[in-house]
Amino acid sequence: RILIVDFGSQVTQLIARRVRESGVYCEVHPFNKVTVESIKAFAPKGVILSGGPASVTGADTPRAPQGLFEMGLPVFGICYGEQTMCAQLGGKVEQSDHQEFGRAYVDVVEDCGLFHGVWDKGGKEQVWMSHGDKIDAIPDGFRVVATSPSSPYAAIANDKKRFYGVQFHPEVVHTPHGAALLRNFTHDVCGCSGSWTMAAFRAQEIAKVRAQVGDGKVICGLSGGVDSSVVAVLLHEAIGDRLQCVFVDTGLMRKGEADEVVGLFRDHYNIPLIHRDASDLFLGKLDGVADPERKRKIIGATFIDVFEEEAQKIGGADFLAQGTLYPDVIESVSFTGGPSVTIKSHHNVGGLPERMNMQLVEPLRELFKDEVRALGRELGLPESFVGRHPFPGPGLAIRLPGGISKEKLEILRNADAVYLEEIRNAGLYDAIWQAFAVLLPVQSVGVMGDARTYDYVCALRAVNSTDGMTADYYPFDHEFLSRVSSRIINEVRGINRVVYDITSKPPGTIEWE
Ligand code: XMP
Repeated sequence: RILIVDFGSQVTQLIARRVRESGVYCEVHPFNKVTVESIKAFAPKGVILSGGPASVTGADTPRAPQGLFEMGLPVFGICYGEQTMCAQLGGKVEQSDHQEFGRAYVDVVEDCGLFHGVWDKGGKEQVWMSHGDKIDAIPDGFRVVATSPSSPYAAIANDKKRFYGVQFHPEVVHTPHGAALLRNFTHDVCGCSGSWTMAAFRAQEIAKVRAQVGDGKVICGLSGGVDSSVVAVLLHEAIGDRLQCVFVDTGLMRKGEADEVVGLFRDHYNIPLIHRDASDLFLGKLDGVADPERKRKIIGATFIDVFEEEAQKIGGADFLAQGTLYPDVIESVSFTGGPSVTIKSHHNVGGLPERMNMQLVEPLRELFKDEVRALGRELGLPESFVGRHPFPGPGLAIRLPGGISKEKLEILRNADAVYLEEIRNAGLYDAIWQAFAVLLPVQSVGVMGDARTYDYVCALRAVNSTDGMTADYYPFDHEFLSRVSSRIINEVRGINRVVYDITSKPPGTIEWE
């Protein structure tokens, strides 16, 4: 196992993710909780010091416990981690007049344990830099193994002590061989075997949940999506029927989805489940509302009201389980809109635990989406749930620009079902991040048989993305699009025209509202 000491970098969890990918168990501990004793108790085979926003040159900025460097353990310092290691071992770090952010190239000037089989001496390698300070002198026993014009100490090594430091971020994808460098550290330098798996994560999270919850009762909101499904199954395995699931049916789900959720959790897994059909309530509140943000707010608030009502009926629960993922933790500041502007307000159960005086259980908080899927498979969830495209909390309401009615919902549901069926038939479902139909508030003239029609326009959307933050439209071939178009027009009453959305994000967003 590996200990990651977190100095507050935005990407510390990515280090954890890379270490897990190399088949090694790890934990992230905040720097102010790490002591020589806590390290001894955790008994890692190596320690990684993360990056962080502070400046080593400032007074009272975070440090690793000094004793760490006398424990005989390998240490890998990344960015701030490298700088504090240098400063703590007698090197010198100074503020630099020019900061370095983004893509950079380093010259590999020496071989070392970290580079073995990945970077060769004499090579030029792409890395991702993000730092303000720079190292001016390295401690005794270290040598420079890579340099860049603005970072003469881009990578340093003390092979004897097994201390390594890099100024760049090996954990991000923009450092193409970064994962291999981290693997060299965990496997070759620290001697980890790489046999850790999702099965181990499952067992470990179950133990954690048991320890946190004790004899308490937990309520979990199910949405039909992957994250809450995985949480529910994991918790049921951990605490059995002390888990009570609540499924608030907004009436804004896709075709057949509500039945699937009830069927899987209540009938198949035997998990206690309350299915509250609140569709009339939601539709009533949304009546005549066309503004996207108002829709989102109404749905969010109504969801919380209904959930709270159901939770109170159950009574006696001390914990609320949520499928929060690591990207949600970062994004919760402002959903997909960057640090300052809110492009779309995020629908979740935020604020609920405080209002209800409940503690949160969030077993997926450290994971990324594809890791959650792997855990879902490990737990035996059917592939149709695990591999599901993302679906937004406000559901079909934000795929119906303009006002919402039962009739329009029905038309949209049917068109969407045909579209997804064709995508599955073509074997494309897993190759696409997200695909859905949108029913436009526009009617156009058509001719069917000998008659004039005046029906709605359906827009099809399919995108690829790695994180939902940016996206490209999916390049279907024309035959596929014609097939979907004629099926929708022939089979779905109310639609007489189909268009394909070829906007990427940015400037568009994935959803239309
Ligand atoms: P946009 O439309 O902002 O969407 O490009 C990015 C991703 O987020 C999903 N999305 C949401 N998910 N609650 C959610 O849980 C929401 O309110 C919400 N709005 C958008 C969207 O489907 C896409 O995957």
